[in-house]
Amino acid sequence: MNVLITGGIGYIGSHTCVQLIKSGHTPVIIDNLCNSKASVLQRIEQLTGHKPTFYNGDVRDAALLDKIFAEHRIDSVIHFAALKAVGESVNKPLEYYDNNIHGSLTLVDAMRRAGVKNFIFSSSATVYGDQPITPYVETMETRRPSSPYGNSKLIIEQCLEDIQKAQPDMSVALLRYFNPVGAHSSGLMGEDPQGIPNNLMPFIAQVAVGRRECLSIFGNDYPTPDGTCVRDYIHVVDVADGHVAALNKVTNHPGTYVYNLGAGFGYSVLDVVNAFSKACGKPVPYQFAPRRGGDLASYWADSTKAANELGWQVKLNLDDMCADTWRWQSMNPQGYPDE
Ligand code: UD1
Repeated sequence: MNVLITGGIGYIGSHTCVQLIKSGHTPVIIDNLCNSKASVLQRIEQLTGHKPTFYNGDVRDAALLDKIFAEHRIDSVIHFAALKAVGESVNKPLEYYDNNIHGSLTLVDAMRRAGVKNFIFSSSATVYGDQPITPYVETMETRRPSSPYGNSKLIIEQCLEDIQKAQPDMSVALLRYFNPVGAHSSGLMGEDPQGIPNNLMPFIAQVAVGRRECLSIFGNDYPTPDGTCVRDYIHVVDVADGHVAALNKVTNHPGTYVYNLGAGFGYSVLDVVNAFSKACGKPVPYQFAPRRGGDLASYWADSTKAANELGWQVKLNLDDMCADTWRWQSMNPQGYPDE
């Protein structure tokens, strides 16, 4: 199948390209490189023997999308391209709503013009909002997330449901990721945040490799077993495989489908720090710091639906996530090369 991957140079997008190629699919990438480097393409080629066709551009560029759909017989679209920093979104809501919502709508409109009917959307567990029940299951109602980033994901989900109802021959899969971490086991691909990492695993990795002095753990007085927040960490290659499974399920089966992509259990921040220390063979220095605004104490996924309907389940555990992140970070201390 020819699959247009928006944001295919990015962290989850690049791992998904590799897994798609290994499953016999042909990705075509559009990415504006706002948070990624084109050298990822060589890594994809190194890992698969195939260099995907790449368009350097933005999903809000309708003319470019028309050109791509005219040049390739695209069967399905997987839409990753978005801004994703929760804190930044609070200060730049317009940019987030424009990139994420306007971008998604422009893309779906171009698909309609081109007659492309299969769409997989990169959503987030953040759409469950602040609910005191865990695990999160797809039958739960969504709630307004606290950040514009999260809200953009929820609004896009709602738009897609309405659009699918009005275009009943469309297939839409909404994949709600929990906390994707880890890297390709080769050490050739991984997460390469620009600037100071916002997320836990890349921050730990940069401390371990000596780029930063000490991890601040945001809060040790939560109502959790060790006082630090609990999350459902999932290996990025398992997330990528979830997309391949969803593609096989929804393609040409019209409807809207919602799946959690999580491991189904939670680890605390201290669990992750300890597992990483084991993986890199030295203690990762940390200090306790005040809570970070907007963090929830504890949540994880019920991933039964994806297991039953997609035949998908995670294969990799926390030790794999840490070992692979460490291999990637130690082989590429400064991330991807510029070219
Ligand atoms: C956030 C987003 C989620 C997004 C994910 C990955 C929300 C509510 N969550 O998840 O949608 O998919 O990022 O981009 O919108 N921590 C530290 N020190 C650090 C960094 C993090 O202690 O330097 C702690 C946090 O307080 C949290 C845990 O580590 O308890 C995980 O944080 P993070 O990796 O940022 O992910 P989330 O906030 O869970």
